Amino acid sequence: MTIFEKLFIFFFFAIVSSIVLVDATFSKSMNITWGTQHALLQGDDLQLVLDKTSGSAAETKVPFLFGTIESRIKLVPGNSAGTVTAYYLSSTGNQHDEIDFEFLGNITGQPYIVHTNIYTQGNGSREQQFYLWFDPTANFHNYSIHWNPTEIVWYIDSIPIRVFRNYENEGIAYPNKQGMKVYTSLWNADDWATRGGLVKTNWSGAPFVAKFNRFRARACTWNGAVSINQCASNTSTNWWTSPTYKKLGFAKLGQLNWVRNNYKIYDYCLDTKRFNGQLPSECSKAQF
Ligand SMILES: *[C@@H]1O[C@H](CO)[C@@H](O)[C@H](O)[C@H]1NC(C)=O
Repeated sequence: MTIFEKLFIFFFFAIVSSIVLVDATFSKSMNITWGTQHALLQGDDLQLVLDKTSGSAAETKVPFLFGTIESRIKLVPGNSAGTVTAYYLSSTGNQHDEIDFEFLGNITGQPYIVHTNIYTQGNGSREQQFYLWFDPTANFHNYSIHWNPTEIVWYIDSIPIRVFRNYENEGIAYPNKQGMKVYTSLWNADDWATRGGLVKTNWSGAPFVAKFNRFRARACTWNGAVSINQCASNTSTNWWTSPTYKKLGFAKLGQLNWVRNNYKIYDYCLDTKRFNGQLPSECSKAQF
């Protein structure tokens, strides 16, 4: 290869990747769908606002099938008890799939709960909850959902906190047939969020604001027909076939165990009472 060819290749990819980045800003990817009068979508920033009149919400213009979805989020500071900031993937219809991150606010100085869940073909009840190892209201932190045909991984600042593996061959449904849009919202859930609804939203602190920025969907867009193989053969998304994404490596597993041993506060797979001793079948399989 001559130096000119090398330079050409370098600039070609530099240009292509910068186009991808520009294209992925919040305002190009999403629309505000609720609370338009006070939410703000500008460039790479999204601000969701909740006051007594309404919360707010935004969603991507298109659905995706597999990919890495990420955003930086700075949660509602101060007395956020009763507020819930949600950031999730969901398909539509009564057999819907969904992959959730929800952040349950708290009174000043008390910890947020990170609530995660997954629905496959309409069935959820797979909650796992965590405390955080930092104050999520002081700075932006990165929250990602990695979703490929093998497994789904929830990450916070590139630390995996939860894995849901594909056990479709063993009769457990896996989200791999329906595209999902990305949704964000901020709403009042003081009927259940803080200590089961015991603590009510203190409206004297309103408006409540959750800030999002640098939303990125490195994902296969889905038009209702695209197959897994088409997604895999798309060179800009074939990252998901790479072995490093097939299963977490040793170092990532170490981080995952650290979070789960120190910060996990609820796990449906341990809640035998709730399921009358009949835990969902994925609970008896290797989790990660
Ligand atoms: C709020 O703080 C209390 C007391 O520390 C804690 O028990 C609870 O898990 C925290 N989070 C929520 C959402 O209630």
